[in-house]
This record gives sequence, structure tokens and C-alpha cells, in this order.
Amino acid sequence: MRQVALLVLLVLPFSALSLDFLVLGDFGWTLNLTNGPIQSFDAMDSYVSTHNEISFLISVGDNLYVKNETDPTMEDVNLMMSLFENRTHLKDKYIWGIRGNHDCTQRDPWFEVDNITREHPTWRMPGLYYEKRFEIAGGKRVGVLFIDSCLAICANYSFDNNSNTQHDSANNFMEDEDHRHFGFGKLNCGDSWIQQEGQKLYTWLETTLNSWESDPSLVWKFSVQHHPMFDKYITDELNLTSNLLPLLLQSKLDLYLCGHKHYASHSYYPYDQVTPTHTTLLSQPHCVSEQELFFSNYQLREETYLKGYALHQILQGSTGGFDSTPVCPGTPTMGRYTWLNNRERGGFTHVSVKEDKIIVKWINVKGEEIYRVNILNDQMF
Ligand SMILES: *[C@@H]1O[C@H](CO)[C@@H](O)[C@H](O)[C@H]1NC(C)=O
Ligand SMILES: *[C@@H]1O[C@H](CO)[C@@H](O)[C@H](O)[C@H]1NC(C)=O
Ligand SMILES: *[C@@H]1O[C@H](CO)[C@@H](O)[C@H](O)[C@H]1NC(C)=O
Ligand SMILES: *[C@@H]1O[C@H](CO)[C@@H](O)[C@H](O)[C@H]1NC(C)=O
Ligand SMILES: *[C@@H]1O[C@H](CO)[C@@H](O)[C@H](O)[C@H]1NC(C)=O
Ligand SMILES: *[C@@H]1O[C@H](CO)[C@@H](O)[C@H](O)[C@H]1NC(C)=O
Ligand SMILES: *[C@@H]1O[C@H](CO)[C@@H](O)[C@H](O)[C@H]1NC(C)=O
Repeated sequence: MRQVALLVLLVLPFSALSLDFLVLGDFGWTLNLTNGPIQSFDAMDSYVSTHNEISFLISVGDNLYVKNETDPTMEDVNLMMSLFENRTHLKDKYIWGIRGNHDCTQRDPWFEVDNITREHPTWRMPGLYYEKRFEIAGGKRVGVLFIDSCLAICANYSFDNNSNTQHDSANNFMEDEDHRHFGFGKLNCGDSWIQQEGQKLYTWLETTLNSWESDPSLVWKFSVQHHPMFDKYITDELNLTSNLLPLLLQSKLDLYLCGHKHYASHSYYPYDQVTPTHTTLLSQPHCVSEQELFFSNYQLREETYLKGYALHQILQGSTGGFDSTPVCPGTPTMGRYTWLNNRERGGFTHVSVKEDKIIVKWINVKGEEIYRVNILNDQMF
């Protein structure tokens, strides 16, 4: 009893401390603020008024959508910043920012870094890309990478040192279509300055992530950038899934905060979808034969799910006992894999259905069960 009380005493004051921030994206529509931005900022102001633990704001870009997007004026900037400055609970909060595609169309790439910072003290943008290690409590910190994804997308960089393969242009085509429709906000990946700055960004990223490895105070690792990697409108952003995603996976980042698409969503890419030795582009399959792969930390041969949780793909193509088809463990797929075997020759799958349970068993030619999935009908309990 005394031990418990002591624990509570020791733990509570520390665990009560936290780092809190708000993330906002795609807000700088200065052409007509009576639309979305005003309502969002009013809501944010009122939210912060009752949540004084919020210590700062992070903008995931598109800070300035202006009429003349190559040459925004200080009037555009002042109007955008007044969204914060006109509001009691937002006016003193730091805004850590990065550029979005609409900011990247500005002729002077350092306009937001230099000019906004000079005039507006809460605007925090020390560079096109930079890192911060924010204190949580008790010396523990959150590392945050602020990445310019315009540069990252167009970078003359490849995660795979042995590959000089051109990036897939399918997405580029669709982004082009997208921006032709709206007529602005298009990245200029053909610009060699952008490609080279992108290369520098990746060098910085590798160095920074290495230095994070040797910082025991870092409990969590986030990155902040404009463009999402995964999308439900056009295809995934292949230059990011190819080159940025594997770097972030290597360093086990926790959150990827982004905007760009004008919706809100959550998606994820489990670490266990790639093997630790993976060194090629994720969009460029590194394929292997003769494998049994467990896509998790546990090499369990049995899994249990509740009915209604997922549609389960049950694959059994090895009955013919032919040579196995190679598999490419890192390839992004919408299906979350748990187990795969292309080593066994021959075999079959036993599906057993009862009202309260389905059991699926993969059996090899020796009649041994090599994997099992249970699906429970919890309405029966
Ligand atoms: C601005 O947006 C509001 C809300 O959508 C609309 O009612 C108004 O007409 C717009 N004003 C201009 C000048 O476009
Ligand atoms: C944008 O502003 C610049 C500098 O004032 C000017 O040269 C350019 O023509 C403008 N572009 C548009 C589309 O108005
Ligand atoms: C931004 O600052 C630079 C000096 O650093 C200045 O030459 C330029 O005119 C400023 N841009 C605007 C739109 O005020
Ligand atoms: C902030 O207040 C000023 C002065 O009242 C006003 O001109 C400006 O439009 C306001 N900004 C926004 C974004 O509403
Ligand atoms: C990906 O990068 C390549 C090489 O820099 C570039 O040509 C291509 O346009 C980029 N793709 C997209 C979708 O932006
Ligand atoms: C991109 O990198 C490759 C290999 O380092 C180099 O040969 C090429 O000239 C670079 N292109 C640009 C535009 O920097
Ligand atoms: C590519 O080369 C750099 C520099 O030698 C190295 O740090 C990095 O780990 C290599 N990347 C991969 C995926 O092997």
C-alpha cells in the first residue's frame, strides 16, 4: 500500500506534464477569408482559451494562397498573420512553419523565412528545413523534422545508392492534371536548383536522423511537411514513398504530419511491412524466393481477429508444388500482411466455419499446420 502511494506521488506530477500543440494546414487563402479560415481560427482561438496547455502551433504549409503567387506582397502576409494576431489566445503563440506547394511557387524561396520572420515575431521558420527538439518533461524530448516537401519531391536523390532509375511519373501526370484544373500551385521539378536543394535536404536529413540515434532524451520522433505520402484522391506520392518513407522507417519515426489534400485523415505504414535489411526503393521491388516471412515482431503461427474487423485475404497458390513465386516484402500494398510463405512446396488450406468462429489453417504436404487464423463472432459471447 505504501509502495503504491509512493509510486503515485512520484509518477503523477511528471506524467501530468506534456507537450501540446495544434497542427493547421492549407489555411492561407487570403483571397477570401470569410470562407473556411475565419471559422477555423475562431474555433482554434476558443479551443486554446480553454486548453492553456497548448504551447505552440505548427503549420503544415500553404501559408499563402495569393492572387499573384510568384510575388506575394507584405499586405498578403499581414492579412494572413492577422488570422493569428487578431485573436487573443493565438496572437502570442509561436507558429512553426514550412512551405507547401503554393508557397513554393514564390519566386524568392526565402520570402517566408526572411520577410515574414522579420515583420512578425511569432512566425518561426528558421530555414526551408530544420529540426527542433521540444521538451516534454523531465528532460525527455520530442524530435521534430521540418521538411520542405517541394524540395524532397523534386530532389536529385535516391534512397537506393545503386539505382539511378527514374522515378515513376504516373503520379506526376495526375498532379499535373490536378493543377491544370486549378491553374496554380504546380511544382517545378525541372528546375535544377530545386533538385539540388532537394539533394542537400536529404543529406541534412540523413545527418540529423543519425544524430537523433545518439540522443537518449528523444522519446518520440515526428516529421512535419506539406505533402502526404499516402492519398485517397490521386496515387501515393511516389517520390516520397520511394525515398523519404524508407529513411523515416529506418529511424522509426512515430508521426508524419502533413496537409495538402483538403481533407482530414489517418493512415499508416506498419514498420513490419519492410524487413530491416531493405535497401532499395520501396516502389522498386526487392524480391526474394524461398522465404517464410512474419510481418511482425512475433513469429506466432496463430492470429485471432473479431468478425467485422477486416476482410481477410486467404491465399493458397502452392498446392501445385511448383517453384515459388518471388515476393517483394517492402512493396507498399493496401493490405496489411502478417505472414507469407513461398518456401513450402505444396500444401492446402483448411477453412472451418462455425457460428461463433472461423478457423483457417494452412497445411503443408506433411499434413502439418503451418499457420492459422481465427475469426471470432463476438456477438455469440
Ligand atoms: C467568400 O466566400 C463566402 C463563403 O463561401 C461567399 O459567400 C462570398 O461570396 C465570397 N466572397 C468573394 C468576394 O468571393
Ligand atoms: C506578379 O507580380 C510581379 C511583380 O510585381 C509581376 O512582374 C508579375 O507580372 C505578376 N504576375 C501576375 C500573374 O500578376
Ligand atoms: C523581402 O525582403 C527582401 C530583403 O531581404 C526585399 O528585397 C524584398 O523586397 C522583400 N519582399 C517584399 C515583398 O517585401
Ligand atoms: C484583423 O483585424 C483588422 C483590423 O480590424 C482587419 O482589417 C483584418 O481584416 C482582420 N484580419 C482578419 C483575417 O480578419
Ligand atoms: C520525382 O522526381 C523526379 C526526379 O527529380 C522528377 O522528374 C519527377 O517529376 C518527380 N515526380 C513527381 C511526382 O513530382
Ligand atoms: C543528379 O545526380 C546525378 C548523380 O549524382 C548527376 O549525374 C546529375 O548530374 C545530377 N543532376 C542534377 C540536375 O543535378
Ligand atoms: C547510401 O550511401 C550513404 C553514404 O555512403 C549511406 O550513408 C547510406 O546508408 C546509403 N543508403 C543505403 C540505403 O544503403
